[in-house]
Amino acid sequence: MSETEIKSIQWFPGHMAKTRRAIKENLSLVDAVVEIIDARIPLSSQNPEMGKMTAGKPRLFVLNKRDMADSTVTDRWISWFRSKGIAAVSMDCKTGKGMKSFTSVLENQVLKDLLETRRAKGMSGTPTRIMIVGIPNVGKSSFINRMSGSKKARVEDRPGVTRTKQWVKLGDRIEMLDMPGVLWPKFDDQGVARRLAFTGAIKDDILDTETLAMLLLEYLAENYPEMLKSRYKMDTSAEMKGPELLELLGRKRGMLISGGEVDTERAAIMLLDEFRAGKIGCISLEIPEDEQNG
Ligand code: G4P
Repeated sequence: MSETEIKSIQWFPGHMAKTRRAIKENLSLVDAVVEIIDARIPLSSQNPEMGKMTAGKPRLFVLNKRDMADSTVTDRWISWFRSKGIAAVSMDCKTGKGMKSFTSVLENQVLKDLLETRRAKGMSGTPTRIMIVGIPNVGKSSFINRMSGSKKARVEDRPGVTRTKQWVKLGDRIEMLDMPGVLWPKFDDQGVARRLAFTGAIKDDILDTETLAMLLLEYLAENYPEMLKSRYKMDTSAEMKGPELLELLGRKRGMLISGGEVDTERAAIMLLDEFRAGKIGCISLEIPEDEQNG
């Protein structure tokens, strides 16, 4: 299946300028920027302009939804980020796994120097302030709810801050600036758009469902054939193409229409739903680029 078969994608205008302005205006109020990304697609779920927008501010990446990703690949990603001098932790905001590591990396690595300076000045009581950003659906609200113990605790307005800012307590020592940090991903790259569509981060109608399912099947047949075998009893090979794979899937699931033909649309919808619900298994859609990128 050629990537040129994917419809050209016209992407979200508007909001970006507003968010960019809000980030710029508020950057001086925080000690660090926390960008939530999807552990299954750590590159595709980033906003490429973030680095520029937050230049000079310490950053920490949270690879969220790690429960849905291939754990060995996630570990490789964490090492990859670290090898580039970028702090990163993995989390599962559904259960809260990784929260301790987040706080520890934030305080002991990302903000180590700042916190030491504050201690030396007798200001260790000063809360650490962060800004949370990320593309839609990546788990920002889940992260905040988890970290704040589900009910958001507002902190009273601070003197010295000209405009009223809302701060939310995340645990004892961390405060988060309550502002919309929603950023759109960048999808002029077809591979990025495809991976965002697989995870459901972008709308289904952007790509034809069957095309999308075929592309996902090709990826799974190449990288996770054992999962296709165990969930759908599909015997596949890395060389099999999308149409053949979708047909096989439909047949295995008994999705037939009159005349014995496979209802490929139904099969496609089922596959994408099951993938997004994590039913097929823990699957990563990207591996660190120095090793290979799909
Ligand atoms: P956002 O604020 O960035 O837009 O994302 P939000 O927290 O609303 O999360 C989007 C979806 O991702 C939610 O699912 C949420 O439960 C799920 N999610 C967030 N973090 C994790 C995680 O670590 N692991 C898994 N498996 N899922 C996560 P939903 O289907 O929209 O709602 P629901 O399932 O909570 O009802």
